[in-house]
Amino acid sequence: MPSKKAEPFHWDSLVRLTHWGVAAACIGNLWLNEAGEEWHEWLGYAAMALISLRLVWGLSFARGHARLRALIPSRADFRQQAVELRERAPATPGHHGSGKLAVWALWLTVLATAGSGWFQNTELGFELGADDWHVWCTWALQGMIALHLTALAFTSWRQRSNLVVRMLPAVRGARPKQAQARQDQHS
Ligand code: HEM
Ligand code: HEM
Repeated sequence: MPSKKAEPFHWDSLVRLTHWGVAAACIGNLWLNEAGEEWHEWLGYAAMALISLRLVWGLSFARGHARLRALIPSRADFRQQAVELRERAPATPGHHGSGKLAVWALWLTVLATAGSGWFQNTELGFELGADDWHVWCTWALQGMIALHLTALAFTSWRQRSNLVVRMLPAVRGARPKQAQARQDQHS
């Protein structure tokens, strides 16, 4: 029987870049800068631009699990998630069913937060009281981030797989060293 041990799964560079960029922008605007400062606005626009780039990537050159089509959850995804969590099986590539829903919810909440931040500065937004919407969105975003980190920690523990490593670049060197050792043995 062929070995099932495959290369460890990592998200592609653009997914990683946009993820950490959006995370940094949210952390900066939620907890580090003063509301209304110029770089608060710029970080908000940067988050919108990074999510737009990720969406275009997901529709164009992205492959496999990073494609937007692959982020639409099916019943089979939820069944597989239940089985993997029950059996404590190692994490398989891509997102679980609930992870796929979470990706859309996170993108939407960040876009709504940044969008309402921009809108409250317009005349119409001012009249409609959009500054309240912006504050509600920031609470929703903090809730989503807490849920995101809790789900990551729970899944990583349950499946004995550190999911954060998949959002970091692959470490080069381990395999070439092994290959070198094998080559040395044969020479
Ligand atoms: C990821 C995007 C964003 C996040 C996480 C975020 C977060 C926040 C937070 C936590 C506050 C303080 C709310 C409070 O008073 O309790 C705030 C206020 C504010 N934000 Fe943002 N923001 C974002 C994007 C933007 C953008 C794009 C703009 C404008 C172009 C903007 C303009 C403002 C302004 C003017 C306030 C002050 C509102 C007030 O005091 O009534 N924000 N934002
Ligand atoms: C603070 C704001 C954050 C936001 C808004 C956020 C949002 C997201 C989004 C939208 C995705 C899907 C990525 C994609 O397919 O393009 C994702 C995945 C992921 N995030 Fe975050 N994230 C945040 C913080 C963090 C932090 C602090 C960590 C690490 C401790 C983290 C670890 C991960 C991991 C490991 C995945 C992939 C999960 C998997 O392989 O199934 N995120 N996040």
